[in-house]
Order: sequence, then C-alpha cells, then structure tokens
Amino acid sequence: MSRKDKTGTSGNRLFQPLAILVAIAIVAVTAVWLISVMGDRKEEVATATSSTKALIGGPFTLVDHTGKTITEKDFAGSYMLVYFGYTFCPDVCPTELQAMSTALDMIPSETLAKINPLFVTVDPERDTVDVMRQYVALFHENLTGLTGSVEQIDAVKKTFRVYAEKTESTAASDYLVDHTSIIYLMDSKGEYLSHFSYGTTPEEMAAKLVKLIPQD
Ligand code: NI
Repeated sequence: MSRKDKTGTSGNRLFQPLAILVAIAIVAVTAVWLISVMGDRKEEVATATSSTKALIGGPFTLVDHTGKTITEKDFAGSYMLVYFGYTFCPDVCPTELQAMSTALDMIPSETLAKINPLFVTVDPERDTVDVMRQYVALFHENLTGLTGSVEQIDAVKKTFRVYAEKTESTAASDYLVDHTSIIYLMDSKGEYLSHFSYGTTPEEMAAKLVKLIPQD
C-alpha cells in the first residue's frame, strides 16, 4: 500500500481496525492449518517408515555374476538399489533395469558412488552365473547380478517380500515368471528407505535418489 492510498482510506476510521483484525485472523488460521498439515505428514512418514522397515530387507547369501559369494555385509555402509526379476523376462525387467541405469547416469558421481545397484534373479534355475554376467553387461556398468541356489533365492525373496511364481508353459524350460516389479532403496544399514514402483521415470528416480542420499 502506498502513502497516497493510506491517506485516501484513512477517512474510514471504523473500517481500518476491522480490516487489520480480519487480516490477523486469516494469518492465524493459515498458520494453524499449516502446522496441522505438517504434523500429519510427519506422522504419516514416521508410521510408514517404522512399519516397512521391519518388513523388508535383512541378511542374505547369494552368488554374484562373477561367481563370488555375496552377503548383505558386502554392501554395509552403502545404499542398495535392489530389483528382482529374471533374464528371460520379455519386457518388464529390461524396461525397469534400463530406467534404473538411466537414472544412475543422471545423478552426481558422489551419489552414484554410494549406491550398489543389484539385480536379483527370481529364476535361479535358468539364471546361472554365466547367464547373469552376460545379462548385467547390457545395463549399467555398476550393476551386480545376483543368483544362487533355489533355497538361497527363496530366502532372499522372503526377506524382501517379493512374490514370484512360474506361469504355465508347454516346455519345461520355456516358462515365464510372474513377479513383483519394485525397485527397493535400502539405506547404509541395509534397512528399507524407499521404493520405486513400476513405471517410475528415470528423472523421478534420479531426483529421489539425490534427495534421499545425503551428500557429504
Ligand atoms: Ni520381469
């Protein structure tokens, strides 16, 4: 409000204090609303994190695409970006792994250095170490392929609450596997931090990774 306006309206002596009171009331109501919204959100995040933390992740023993035995301890201190799938998957797995690889190419190198991108097979019978090595080479250079015995894979699927089931097929070696398509982000203690649903764009993924992984 300019000086001129003020003099112009000062004739209405009753109206001015009323307008000030209304303005104060509006500010107060907005403040209370903002505080309550922020409080709710904080609570939501806290509940989601604490309940999911207990559900997803934990110890595992697997074999990487070079034939080396790997456990969750090998990734202690860095973040795990974990995707479960299988190399014979016709579309979903390659699409997701490509999106993940593109996202990893978009983030700063300091953030990238803190992440271990992992592809865990849900089809260990066909996805041998050799098959995994050739497959991960098609995606990001940091991607580690993990396979193992049927028992080891069953155990890690259970740990990450991943569903995977062979579908009907005509030949014993020619089957598809229905499976969960979620990319999990696990923190430096191996605990669930966040996840990316199927169809998340590389841009969204990269932005969230940068936001969630502290730069130091
Ligand atoms: Ni798949």
